[in-house]
Amino acid sequence: MQASALIFGNALVTLLVLSCCTSVHSDDAVHVSIKNRLGSGKNLTLHCQSKDTDLGQQNVGDGSEFGWDFTVNVWGSTLFYCDIGWDEVQQYHFDSYSFQRDFARCQSQCSWLVSGEGIYGLNGQTGFWEFAYNWSS
Ligand SMILES: *[C@@H]1O[C@H](CO)[C@@H](O)[C@H](O)[C@H]1NC(C)=O
Repeated sequence: MQASALIFGNALVTLLVLSCCTSVHSDDAVHVSIKNRLGSGKNLTLHCQSKDTDLGQQNVGDGSEFGWDFTVNVWGSTLFYCDIGWDEVQQYHFDSYSFQRDFARCQSQCSWLVSGEGIYGLNGQTGFWEFAYNWSS
């Protein structure tokens, strides 16, 4: 009970701090990049968009990456989602940036690596690559 009250209290403080600072620093840019690490010269196709922005269909060669910059909105609802595909996977859907998930995890640089097993994301807080999406799920 006490622990959950504490967690809730912390979440509340985080929200307050967040609403303070996202509006003050709303021009802070976030960079998202998605790198093709499939190997064997395999191409990656990807199509990312948000509610307002369509980044178009992209072909990313083995070892190359596609990235873009944006500023988060003051409501904290910024979301970019992508459909990606390669030889063995078609139209795999994942969120490449979600403010709720990523404001602390990767403040200004959100990097993804696409591999044969799935997708790895860089956790900016720990500096570790984390296995985030498995193709079979
Ligand atoms: C990858 O895409 C490029 C550019 O469209 C194309 O020339 C190349 O043949 C493709 N490679 C493979 C392995 O499909």
